[in-house]
Amino acid sequence: MKKLDFASKPIDENFFENPQEYPLTGYHKGHAVRAEGKQRYDEHGKPYPTKLGIHGTNVAVDWDSCIADGSCMESCPMNGFEWALAEGKTGKGNDLPIEEGTELWVKYRTDKADPVNEAECIYCNACVVACPAGAISVAKRVELSSQKV
Ligand code: F3S
Ligand code: ZN
Repeated sequence: MKKLDFASKPIDENFFENPQEYPLTGYHKGHAVRAEGKQRYDEHGKPYPTKLGIHGTNVAVDWDSCIADGSCMESCPMNGFEWALAEGKTGKGNDLPIEEGTELWVKYRTDKADPVNEAECIYCNACVVACPAGAISVAKRVELSSQKV
């Protein structure tokens, strides 16, 4: 178990509908990033030490909530995720170890699950169920289509 100095809070499931609180702040590896640089609050109402925001257009991981458990990667039948810092690697124990007090620690605290293959998502929600931090939310398939009225 990693040493943490914050209390991870589950992702706000309604963040898609709340662009004021979770504005689109950029893109990363083909997916949206929301609320990067924005101060948010942990389970105890204390400011998260990181301001990493939420990665993923439809398969969204709250990077301020992710504690590098790795269950999401092991549960995904489509290899939807990889470690953000240990690029190309997936699964428990394969995240980049981060030493306390380093530059990486100040910015990230732990490695983060990055939904690099969200285009392959089959909406099974296995990752949502598997994550012990509740850090993942998957948009419903219907929200993907801009053609439908
Ligand atoms: Fe992070 Fe949860 Fe996956 S803590 S690594 S999103 S299982
Ligand atoms: Zn990303």
